Amino acid sequence: MARREGPALWAVFLWPGGHHHGAWRLPGSPGADLLSFENYRRMAVEAEKAKIDMVFLGDRLDAWPLPDEYLARTARGARLETLTLTGALAAATERIGLVATASTTFSEPFNLARMIGSLDHISGGRVGWNVVTSYTDDQAQNFGLDHIPARPERYSRAQEFLDVAKGLWDTYEDDAVFRDKETGQFFDPAKLHKLNHKGSHFQVAGPMNMERPPQGYPVICQAGASKDGIAFAARNGEVLFSVNSSIERSREYYNQIKEGAIAAGRSPDEVKVLASINPVLGKTAEDAQRKYDQMQSLLDDDVSRHFAEMYFGIDLAKYDLDELVPEIELPEVGRGMPRAHQEYMLTRARDQKLTMRQLVYGFNGTNIYPKSAEEAADEFQEWYETGACDGFILQISHVPEGVTDFCELVVPILRRRGLIREEYAGRTMRENLGLAFPRNQYAK
Ligand SMILES: Cc1cc2nc3c(=O)[nH]c(=O)nc-3n(C[C@H](O)[C@H](O)[C@H](O)COP(=O)(O)O)c2cc1C
Repeated sequence: MARREGPALWAVFLWPGGHHHGAWRLPGSPGADLLSFENYRRMAVEAEKAKIDMVFLGDRLDAWPLPDEYLARTARGARLETLTLTGALAAATERIGLVATASTTFSEPFNLARMIGSLDHISGGRVGWNVVTSYTDDQAQNFGLDHIPARPERYSRAQEFLDVAKGLWDTYEDDAVFRDKETGQFFDPAKLHKLNHKGSHFQVAGPMNMERPPQGYPVICQAGASKDGIAFAARNGEVLFSVNSSIERSREYYNQIKEGAIAAGRSPDEVKVLASINPVLGKTAEDAQRKYDQMQSLLDDDVSRHFAEMYFGIDLAKYDLDELVPEIELPEVGRGMPRAHQEYMLTRARDQKLTMRQLVYGFNGTNIYPKSAEEAADEFQEWYETGACDGFILQISHVPEGVTDFCELVVPILRRRGLIREEYAGRTMRENLGLAFPRNQYAK
C-alpha cells in the first residue's frame, strides 16, 4: 500500500497540572498559578505559533473520585470549566481551533447549543464540541442520581441531544438575517424555523436566539470506544480521539470507524481519527529518560495506588506486588476509566513485563513514556503514513514545558518531513481541517 502523504492533524490536550500525576511538582510547573488563565493562555498561544490545529480541553463533572486525603495531594481535581475557558482563549488566540468538553447526560440541549453557538460566534468559527456521555457514578451523584445510566441509554440520549442541538443551530437559514437599516427588516420570517421537537428524552420548541454559528455547527468531536460509542462516532463524529495500545489496534479502530462512517452514508474523509500518543520528550533518548525519571520520582506512592485503583475500578490489594501483571478482570460500567484506557495500560504493562508493584506504585496517568524528539517523530510518521490515524492528540505530560518541548524539538522535524502544516488552511476550524460546511436542514 502506498504511504500516505501531506500533513497530519495535531491537537494538544492540556490539563493545567499536566497529565503525569507527579508533574505538577516539577520546578518549572506553574505551582500556585496552576489554575490561572495565564497558564492556559501561554500554552495555547505557543501551540498556535507552531500551527497546531487545536487545543483540546477535557472535563468531567466531579472533582476526582479519590479519598480526600489523596485528592489533597494531587493536581487532578483542579481545572477550569471548559466552555468558560474556551471563551477566554478565543479572545487570546486568532487561528487555532478550540475544543471544549460538555456532557449530554447532564445538560439540556437548549442551554448547551446556545453556549456552544455563542462560542462559535465569539471565536469566529474556531470551536469544536467534545461530546461526552460521562461514565462514572461519581459524576451521576452530582446530578441527583446514584448511578450512571447504562451506556446504551446514555448514547441514545446523546443522539437525540445532538439532533436537537443541530436543529436549534439551524433555526435561521444561512441567508435569513440581513438587518436592513433602510427598511427596518431584521430577518426574513419565512427563513426562521421552529423546531417543535418531541422525542423520548427532550421536548424543545425553539427557535434558538441567535443566527447560525459561523461554522454552521461546531466541529463535532468524540472519543467513543465501546460498540455504542463507535456507532455514535461513525454516525456523528468529525474529529475522533482514540487510545489504542498498538499501531495494529489503532489501524483496526481506524478502519472500523471509516467503515462505520460509510455505512452511515458518510464519506470516510468526513471523519478524522486522532490517536493519543504522549511522549515525554528530550533532545536525546537520555534527556527524555532523565526528565521522565524526575517526574516518576515525584509520584506519591499512596496517591499512585489510589489512582490505579480508581482507574481500573477495582481493589488491587489482592494481587501479589512482586508478580508480573496478570490478566485482570475489569468491572463493567460506572467504575474506573473507560475500558479502552484500562486495556491500554494493562497491555502496555504486560508488554513491558512490569510487576504489579511497578504498575501500582508507578502509576502516572495515561500512556506516558520517554522518547527522543527523533524517535517520537518516527513513531508519529509510521502511525500516520501506514493508516493508523489521521493525526494525533498529545496528552501533554508536564506543563508548560511539555508544549514547548513539542514545539521546539519535534515540530521542526515534522515540518521538514511535511507532517505538520506550514500555515492554517482556512478561517474557521472546519475549513482548516478540510471539513465541509454543513447544509442547513431547512434550506430548500
Ligand atoms: C483523548 C480522550 C479524551 C477524552 N476526554 C474526555 C473528557 O474530557 N471527558 C469525558 O467525560 N470523557 C472523555 N473521554 C472518554 C470518552 O468520551 C469515552 O467515554 C471513552 O473513550 C469510552 O468510550 P465509550 O463511551 O464508548 O465507552 C476521552 C477519551 C479520549 C480517548
